[in-house]
Amino acid sequence: MSGQQTEQTKQARPAGQPGSSGGYPAHFRVWRGDADGGGLEDFTVEVNEGEVVLDIIHRLQATQAPDLAVRWNCKAGKCGSCSAEINGQPRLLCMTRMSVFDRTETITVTPMRAFPVVRDLVTDVSFNYTKAREVPSFVPPAELAPGEYRMQQEDVNRSQEFRKCIECFLCQDTCHVVRDHEENKAAFAGPRFLIRIAELDMHPLDAAPQSGLDRQTTAQDEHGLGYCNITKCCTEVCPENIKITDNALIPLKERVADRKYDPLVWLGNKIRRRTE
Ligand code: SF4
Ligand code: SF4
Ligand code: FES
Repeated sequence: MSGQQTEQTKQARPAGQPGSSGGYPAHFRVWRGDADGGGLEDFTVEVNEGEVVLDIIHRLQATQAPDLAVRWNCKAGKCGSCSAEINGQPRLLCMTRMSVFDRTETITVTPMRAFPVVRDLVTDVSFNYTKAREVPSFVPPAELAPGEYRMQQEDVNRSQEFRKCIECFLCQDTCHVVRDHEENKAAFAGPRFLIRIAELDMHPLDAAPQSGLDRQTTAQDEHGLGYCNITKCCTEVCPENIKITDNALIPLKERVADRKYDPLVWLGNKIRRRTE
């Protein structure tokens, strides 16, 4: 009975009030503004045990800044909506625990830098949708009907890693090729879409070659694989722990290089050019 009472007393305590378990005031700096400009605003806001940065942004909306714009959906690290930068690092707001910060430090939250600001923490990520449309999709094998596809488990596992992508675009945001170089965006698809190309290029049933589509050549010539200098920054920020560089970009680069310097391919190209 007394144990039950203790539990009820705990639940009755209002969250975020001084005196609740683990509550403390934190210092936040949040970027406010729109496409025309803006700046950082300071807030002191209550934090409770077990909370994530998105909880604090929601508390700011509820108590001090009702018009603060933030994009979110699942609060479970699965929809990829709440991407922003925390102390300059691209991160998901809903998967960043307050406990990783020192209680006395000022936590700065800003919108993703690589994309245009819509308002406050919300950015226009349509660059990524444009790039997605530029990658030709899986080409079904002509000789097999749906349901007749068979693959080795090893091949399934390889592409499964890339299919964990939640399209948060944190890798796109952190990649130095576009982060500070707007002019590179036209020629560079970014890590998220280079892993999509790598996945399709590794797919044993993809009939792209039979349909005249050379994914390796287009990765290099049309999607900017050559811009990537395998710094691994994209891998470091991926919330799904996809080994973007080691398992997709480097193998794709190796296949492009093998193909370019393959003497039989070289001879074939030369003959083709002469007969054209
Ligand atoms: S490894 Fe390549 S794609 Fe990834 S961040 Fe570095 S340059 Fe960009
Ligand atoms: S590869 Fe990782 S970082 Fe990039 S969009 Fe997908 S989940 Fe996000
Ligand atoms: S709200 Fe869905 S990933 Fe953060």
